[in-house]
Amino acid sequence: MSLPNIVSKEQIQNQYTYIDGVAELIRGKQLRAYTHTFGCQQNEADTERIRGMLHEMGYEMTDSAEDADFILFNTCAVREHAEERAFGNIGALSHLKKRRPDLIIALCGCMAQQDKNVQKIKKSYPQVTLLFGTHALWRFPSLLYRTMTEKKRIFDIGGDENGEIAEGLPVMRENGAKAWLSIMYGCNNFCTYCIVPYVRGRERSRRPEEIESELRDLISAGYKDITLLGQNVNSYGKDLELDIDFADLLRRLNAVEGDFLIRFMTSHPKDAGPRLFDAMADCSKVAKQLHLPFQSGSDEILERMNRRYTAADYRKLITYARGKMPNLTLSSDIIVGFPGETEADFQQTLALVQEIQFDLLFTFLYSKRSGTPAAEYEDNATPAEKQNRFERLLRAQDEIVAKRQDAYQGKCMRLLVDGGARGTEYPYTARTEGNLLVCVRGDDIRIGTFIEAEIEKTSLRCLFARKR
Ligand code: SAH
Ligand code: SF4
Ligand code: F3S
Repeated sequence: MSLPNIVSKEQIQNQYTYIDGVAELIRGKQLRAYTHTFGCQQNEADTERIRGMLHEMGYEMTDSAEDADFILFNTCAVREHAEERAFGNIGALSHLKKRRPDLIIALCGCMAQQDKNVQKIKKSYPQVTLLFGTHALWRFPSLLYRTMTEKKRIFDIGGDENGEIAEGLPVMRENGAKAWLSIMYGCNNFCTYCIVPYVRGRERSRRPEEIESELRDLISAGYKDITLLGQNVNSYGKDLELDIDFADLLRRLNAVEGDFLIRFMTSHPKDAGPRLFDAMADCSKVAKQLHLPFQSGSDEILERMNRRYTAADYRKLITYARGKMPNLTLSSDIIVGFPGETEADFQQTLALVQEIQFDLLFTFLYSKRSGTPAAEYEDNATPAEKQNRFERLLRAQDEIVAKRQDAYQGKCMRLLVDGGARGTEYPYTARTEGNLLVCVRGDDIRIGTFIEAEIEKTSLRCLFARKR
C-alpha cells in the first residue's frame, strides 16, 4: 500500500501567504464571519480549521448569519435530509445577498464533492460565491483570496480524489473541556448504503508524532475530553510504514502526562477486537466508552450492506469487551429499512437491541444515495412499514434506557463539568466517563474540572447529580 499523500510544507506556507493577502484586503473593515456545520464530528473538526484560517485573516466570528460578511456552510451528504436542510438554508440567504452584494457565501464539505450537487448549485443557487470540496479544504485561503480579487464565482471541487493529509493549518476550537483530534481521514469500507468513501477519499493516517504533539498542545491549553476521530479508527496505521495500530496509538497517547480523558469514534466491528479492548482496559485515561455500530441484526442484510461480520461476531465482541470492562458504556448505529429488509430481518435487529441493552442508540431510516450500490437494490417495504419499524425500535430502546438510567440512582460518579451555568435547579452540565449527559448542582463547580457527584434522579435523556 502506498503511503498517504502529504501536502508539502511549501504548499501550506503558500496558503499562509494567502491568509496575509486576505488580511491585507480586509484590513480595518472589521468584517465578521459566520459558520454552520452539518454532519459528523469530522465536519465539525474541519470547520474548526476554517475558523482558524478566518481568525488569522482578521475576521471576527459571529453567531448571526444576518450580521456576517462571510457565511460558510460545511455540508453533509450522508442522508437526503441533511442535503435538503443545507439547500433550504442556502435558499434562505438569497435575500441577504441581494441586499448586500459584497456578502460572500461559501459552501464546502461532503455535498460539494458530488457532481449532482455542484451542478445544482451552479445553476440554481447563484448566491453561492465560493464552492469547494473536502479535498480542497486546505486551499481555502487561496480560494477566498481569488473570490475577493477576481470578483467571480469560484468552484474548486478537484484535487486528489484519494485525499491528502494537510498538517500545520491554523485551528480555532470552541472554548471548553472538549476537543476533536483527527487521527485519520477517509474510508475504504464501501458499505453499500454509504456515500462517505466517495466524498472523503481513501483511508489515510496521520503520523503518530503529529497526533501526540497535537494532544500535548490540547492538554496544555486546558482541554480535558479529547475525542480521536476517524471513520474507522480501528484501521489506523495500516497505511503507514510504521509498526503501529490503533491499540498501540491509544497506549502511546495514554502515556502523555496530565489529567484528561481520551475517547474515540468510530469503530468498525470487523476490525475491533481483543487487542483494542485490552488496550482500553489497561489505559486509565481511555474512557470506558465504545461506539460500535452494528447497523442490522440480520446476517443477510449485513452481507448485502458489505459489513463483513455477522450478528454472532458482534455478540462475541461485546461479550469480550464487557468482560474486560464491566462498566463499559456502549452505543451503536442502526439503519432501519435497508432495501430488501423484511419483518423477519427487522425482528433480528430488535432482538439484538433487546439482548445487548445499549446505553445509547442512533437509529436512521435508510436513505438512498445515488452512486452507491444499494441505490440499485430492490426495495419492497413501503415507507409506512419502514416508519412503523423505526418507531417500534425507538420505543424498545426508550424502555431499555429508562431501566439503565434507573440503575444509576444513588450512585457516586466521577464527572467532567463541561457547560453551564443556566439558572435552573441543576445549572451545570457534565459528562460521565461513558459520555452520558448529567445535569449538576452544588457549590464551587467549575467548567473543565472533574468532580465526584451523587446521582439524585434520572430521566430518559439526562441524569441529575449533586456535587459531593
Ligand atoms: N464511519 C462510521 C459512521 C458513518 S456515518 C461508521 O462506519 O460507523 C454514521 C451513520 O450513518 C452510519 O453508522 C449509518 O448508521 C448511518 N448511515 C450511513 N449511510 C446511511 C444511509 N444511506 N441511510 C441511512 N443511514 C445511513
Ligand atoms: Fe460509511 Fe461504512 Fe465507511 Fe462507515 S465504514 S463511513 S458506514 S462506508
Ligand atoms: Fe456527513 Fe461527510 Fe460526515 S457525509 S457524516 S459530514 S463524512
